[in-house]
Amino acid sequence: MIAAAALADRPMVNTCPAFDADAARRDFPILATPVVHGRAFLDSAASAQKPIQVIDAVRRCYEAEYANIHRGVYELSALATRNYDAAREKVRAFINAKEASEVVFVRGGTEGVNLVASTYGEKFVGWRDEIIISHLEHHSNIVPWQLLAERKGATIRVIPINDAGELILEEYEKLLGPRTKVVAVTHASNALGTIVPVKEITAMAHEHGAAVLVDGCQAAPHMPIDVQEMDCDFYVFSGHKVYGPSGIGALYGKKALLEDMPPWQGGGDMIDSVTFEKTTYAPPPAKFEAGTPHISGATGLAAALDYVSSHGLDRIAAHEKNLLAEATERLRQFNGIRIFGEARQKAAILSFLIDDIHPHDVGTIADQMGVAVRAGHHCAQPVMQRYDIPGTVRASFGLYNTSGDIDLLVNSVRKAKEIFG
Ligand code: ALA
Repeated sequence: MIAAAALADRPMVNTCPAFDADAARRDFPILATPVVHGRAFLDSAASAQKPIQVIDAVRRCYEAEYANIHRGVYELSALATRNYDAAREKVRAFINAKEASEVVFVRGGTEGVNLVASTYGEKFVGWRDEIIISHLEHHSNIVPWQLLAERKGATIRVIPINDAGELILEEYEKLLGPRTKVVAVTHASNALGTIVPVKEITAMAHEHGAAVLVDGCQAAPHMPIDVQEMDCDFYVFSGHKVYGPSGIGALYGKKALLEDMPPWQGGGDMIDSVTFEKTTYAPPPAKFEAGTPHISGATGLAAALDYVSSHGLDRIAAHEKNLLAEATERLRQFNGIRIFGEARQKAAILSFLIDDIHPHDVGTIADQMGVAVRAGHHCAQPVMQRYDIPGTVRASFGLYNTSGDIDLLVNSVRKAKEIFG
């Protein structure tokens, strides 16, 4: 399944100062606990562990800085409000949005996609219009569009992938047309690791007047993000994958689009004025943040973004690229290994099968050998259908992983082959 050539052309030169993963590991208390110590955590694509800086920020929020925001005239509420607004500014800087008001706090990437489908989509997608997604998408960037298409009588079109797991751009070009209203693609595939050329995809969509949403959940922890350079209309990512708390994430939307979109949920803080006859709405981002938000989550997310930025996304990316290359090379030594996802541009995700062993069996043996991996369809069933497989074993790397973790992964694959092979 894998062509050696694809990996061979991948540049392996690390131009950044070396990343000290052993030092970074000491920031993650969970790695020293009995359940994790001496074991390999290779499931950061599902959810990353939290550094002490994030844990401390959340604790400080509840211990000393917590009250509801935007509602109190008293000092503690003003302090909590300043922290919440500062967190929004941190997100703005992290993705290089023009203005903080272009950042909407949401529960995570999934909620961000649903919000756009239910507001922008509700207003601008109509009967017989088309929504383009790709064959790489996570269910969270498929199902919200299907729900919209069902409501509106619109059609979903799918950009195919080649055997390496790369989008076939010539086919994408053929799908674009006057009926295309939205193009929604992942920035990095959670199942195969493919990094998608989102800037090119966006430019092509814009030639046809379509809006572009990029699902950045698997990209934000691993590479610098610049939404202005990408020129996408919407970008979503989850806090918990970027070493922050779960239940918080961000939706970026271009200001003019957010202003033009109807509100999503109704409630407190999203209004300008309410009477029984008529309600007017607050400007974005408040228009999309009804109810008391995840206040400590925003604080924790800001601390997480500070944390990864202090290491440097370039250095993290270079470190993870080395880990991916090493793990790929070492697993390739096994007879019967099939690696899925050999894109020229790949995030640190290694999906594989070994002989005919079911991925759940490999995952269970790996657990017994001290390795946490995800096994199954990874919420990307169409990817599995593309390769006609039930699922894969997926090792995904974070900034705290080391070659020692790869040793344990290799041992667990050897063990699975001994038992089932
Ligand atoms: N989307 C997450 C994953 O890929 C949960 O595992």
